[in-house]
Amino acid sequence: MIEIRDLKKCYGERTVLDIPALTVKDGEALALAGPNGSGKTTLLRLLSGLLKSSGGTVKKPGKVLYMPQQAYAFKGDLIRNVTLAGCDRSEADRLLEKLELSALAHKKATSLSGGELQRLSLCRVLSVDCELLLLDEPTGACDARGAELVINAIREYRSKTGCTVLISTHSPVLALNAADRLIILNSGRIEADGKPKEILTSPENEWTQHFIAGWKI
Ligand SMILES: Nc1ncnc2c1ncn2[C@@H]1O[C@H](COP(=O)(O)OP(=O)(O)O)[C@@H](O)[C@H]1O
Ligand SMILES: [Mg+2]
Repeated sequence: MIEIRDLKKCYGERTVLDIPALTVKDGEALALAGPNGSGKTTLLRLLSGLLKSSGGTVKKPGKVLYMPQQAYAFKGDLIRNVTLAGCDRSEADRLLEKLELSALAHKKATSLSGGELQRLSLCRVLSVDCELLLLDEPTGACDARGAELVINAIREYRSKTGCTVLISTHSPVLALNAADRLIILNSGRIEADGKPKEILTSPENEWTQHFIAGWKI
């Protein structure tokens, strides 16, 4: 379970995240949406432990995996890029196939396109078990097919590990298909919190209604 109380992140005078209370149940998948700069990455980085809060408390599971917004590759081919996280070769092959990267398995990972690189980063993260998975815009660089593959891989990982998942996203398709719950951030504050379908079809306030109207399906 994640339990957040009075969590704040400030830069100088500016408060970029302010969450009085948020609880995420074990095994729940939460999508985080909101405009650029609304605090999605800040919340994920605070939960990952990479960023220090300006106040408040966070209770979370011990084994956390975090995939940053900017995908990256290490030297060597795609297989090496997955196995260096610690899994064996057959698991790396399986994940690369699942993300439709098998044909590129022996290519230099640094030569991949943005969407391919993002899928490779996901393979590396999903090759290890965890209790809390944090994904920052995992379909941000993907085309429609790539996004579908990412969504399927997240769903499979969830059913295999039973982990809790937080995914920041600009994709309503991802929120609807990979998450049980959707939170919308507005300038660092939670503006809406509920089932993705309900928020998408009947937003609870005017700001959310306006935000959802601009969301492409
Ligand atoms: N190191 C920093 N110094 C000052 N402001 C920052 C820093 N990091 C992030 N911010 C600000 O915090 C706000 C939230 O950023 P972020 O969490 O990355 O938003 P999102 O992921 O929703 O686009 C933004 O306005 C951003 O400019
Ligand atoms: Mg971000």
